[in-house]
Amino acid sequence: MSLLLLMSVTKDTFPDLWVNNTLSSDWKYVRETANHYSNGPVTNVTDPEFRCYELDLVNTASQTGTATVVAGSTVGFHSDASMGHPGYFDVYMTPAVPAANSEAAGTGKTWFKIWEWSPTWSKSTGLVFASENIWQFNFTIPKSLPSGQYLIRGEQIALHVAESYGGAQFYIGCAQVNVINGGTGKPGPLVSIPGVYTGYEPGILINIYNLPANYTGYQAPGPAVWTG
Ligand SMILES: *[C@@H]1O[C@H](CO)[C@@H](O)[C@H](O)[C@H]1NC(C)=O
Ligand SMILES: *[C@@H]1O[C@H](CO)[C@@H](O)[C@H](O)[C@H]1NC(C)=O
Ligand SMILES: *[C@@H]1O[C@H](CO)[C@@H](O)[C@H](O)[C@H]1NC(C)=O
Ligand SMILES: *[C@@H]1O[C@H](CO)[C@@H](O)[C@H](O)[C@H]1NC(C)=O
Repeated sequence: MSLLLLMSVTKDTFPDLWVNNTLSSDWKYVRETANHYSNGPVTNVTDPEFRCYELDLVNTASQTGTATVVAGSTVGFHSDASMGHPGYFDVYMTPAVPAANSEAAGTGKTWFKIWEWSPTWSKSTGLVFASENIWQFNFTIPKSLPSGQYLIRGEQIALHVAESYGGAQFYIGCAQVNVINGGTGKPGPLVSIPGVYTGYEPGILINIYNLPANYTGYQAPGPAVWTG
């Protein structure tokens, strides 16, 4: 098998946003990531790149469009190929001040989690990763989210080599959106990104192939989900 073929089997970027049952073109609304060609992960949870993994921390935001999305509707991140690693998926949002296409957006303690997909566990099956090999992950923009400009940060924490510190692989993308028809909800708990993880959480530093005898199930890292 050629290296090219091998590399084309899985992809760890999700450049397309699914809005109104329509798929956008690559990087239209998702800030182009530094791994758009290499597919390499972020592994340093305190690096500024951990926020959006941008190609260029100065120019990418202004070169990316902002999608209008309706509160309560389903949105997705779509990859050009299967996201092949066993892991955990989640989605964070932050109000974007002064605008979604500004680099200043999301630099404070303003992020909240709106969705997650954890592996399931039982004594007989061990961890089961139903999300392995999906092409797209979907979530609902909370109906009561106040209207306005936001970033939506999708994250896959790939856990196949997460048994030592710094081994977990983070695949990240930030979409720029303008939420309309929202409500008066108060999202929280709020966290900073980077800052939300130390890298030592039991859901990040974990040997999924050799769980301790007293294991009782996957513990998602980060704050609880705000559903609106
Ligand atoms: C992680 O990123 C922080 C902030 O940029 C940096 O200080 C630190 O040296 C990095 N750690 C590693 C292991 O590269
Ligand atoms: C999605 O639909 C809403 C409501 O019709 C519209 O305002 C918005 O522009 C659409 N968004 C995109 C990205 O097409
Ligand atoms: C996300 O939605 C799309 C479009 O409806 C669907 O094809 C896809 O299977 C969904 N992804 C998951 C993981 O459910
Ligand atoms: C599980 O066992 C390990 C030692 O193997 C121990 O450090 C840990 O505290 C135990 N956890 C629980 C929840 O009992």
